[in-house]
Amino acid sequence: MTRSYNIVSIPGDGIGPETNGAAVRVLEAVAQKYGFEPRITEYKAGGCAIDAFGVPLPGETLQAAQDSDAVLLGAVGGPRWDMIEAERRPEQAILGLRQGMHLYANLRPATLYKELGDVSPLKNPGKIDLLIVRELTGGIYFGKQGSYKSSEKLFDGTRKGIVAFDTESYSEAEITRILRRGFEFARIRNKKLTLVDKANVLNTSRLWRQLAKEIAGEYSDVELEFLYVDNCSMQLVARPATFDVIVTSNMFGDILSDLAGQITGSVGLLPSASMGNPGMPGLFEPIHGSAPDIAGQNKANPIASILSVGLMLKLHLGENDAADSISEAVRKTLEQGARTPDIAIHGDEEDKRDITLVNTTEMTDKIIANLE
Ligand code: IPM
Ligand code: MG
Repeated sequence: MTRSYNIVSIPGDGIGPETNGAAVRVLEAVAQKYGFEPRITEYKAGGCAIDAFGVPLPGETLQAAQDSDAVLLGAVGGPRWDMIEAERRPEQAILGLRQGMHLYANLRPATLYKELGDVSPLKNPGKIDLLIVRELTGGIYFGKQGSYKSSEKLFDGTRKGIVAFDTESYSEAEITRILRRGFEFARIRNKKLTLVDKANVLNTSRLWRQLAKEIAGEYSDVELEFLYVDNCSMQLVARPATFDVIVTSNMFGDILSDLAGQITGSVGLLPSASMGNPGMPGLFEPIHGSAPDIAGQNKANPIASILSVGLMLKLHLGENDAADSISEAVRKTLEQGARTPDIAIHGDEEDKRDITLVNTTEMTDKIIANLE
């Protein structure tokens, strides 16, 4: 019997339909080659769902996602929906899916392809190959929030006016399960784990450190390093090649993964996998946003979305050969010189000779042609 998977596709807004469309095409092509069947159904979430149903995450979309084997997501949001009140913003769709599917582990690998050395803004980047393990359903993203009018004053008598607050809170159980993911990935990679926090200021961070030290003994083959997040952003620029696995909280992981995207050439290259406990459905999406400025122009880099299919096949569905075929096809396509605008901007005239500027569709065609 053919292996068959129930995949929910959520294109979303902006460039989402273009990059997710590319990902679906690659999934179908690789499935045919490797003899499995993706049964793909499309659902709305984000701004387009607000337009159609008045809510960013319709119940039927969440239900379908929960009942699926895996979700492929494009991107959500855009200036059209920026004025909507907080609970109905498009971003709530992503947060609702993460929470509703219990996707607490977000894996964001960042690799610098040797062909893209010149695209990295770093002078001597070296060999960058790191994995950010970001906690995804806790911390300040999901803590108590609110705002109120204060009658208090600042020291000089100025009225405080409106006060808004967001709360960072983490439990031992939430921290431990994500730390373990970090240690486990480090164990099968280069055996180095960096815990990124702000333990010189935050209580939550001190708990992360304490728990990391407590369980480190179970992973004595892994070297554990601690870095404050401000210092880590410096070190990622100064010595990116020395990082292996970074484990960190929801917000620090959000920020550092964009930084990792830039130093490896473009945020348009970085995939992500969001996973819960074994056996539960996962969600796979590029780390980039909906890029409304280039939406609908067939200009977006589809590689982050395509590599997210690779992560889905490798980490989640166990289709290893198909996954390897995708990463190899992407590498080969870059080696052949195909460049979407985001990765074609640097380099001197000499380097540009072998480069072909391509659009989203052409990049996808080339990757599909290179699947082996
Ligand atoms: C990401 C995005 C999201 C996040 C937004 C769209 C809610 O920036 O996946 O990195 O902050 O997690
Ligand atoms: Mg982000």
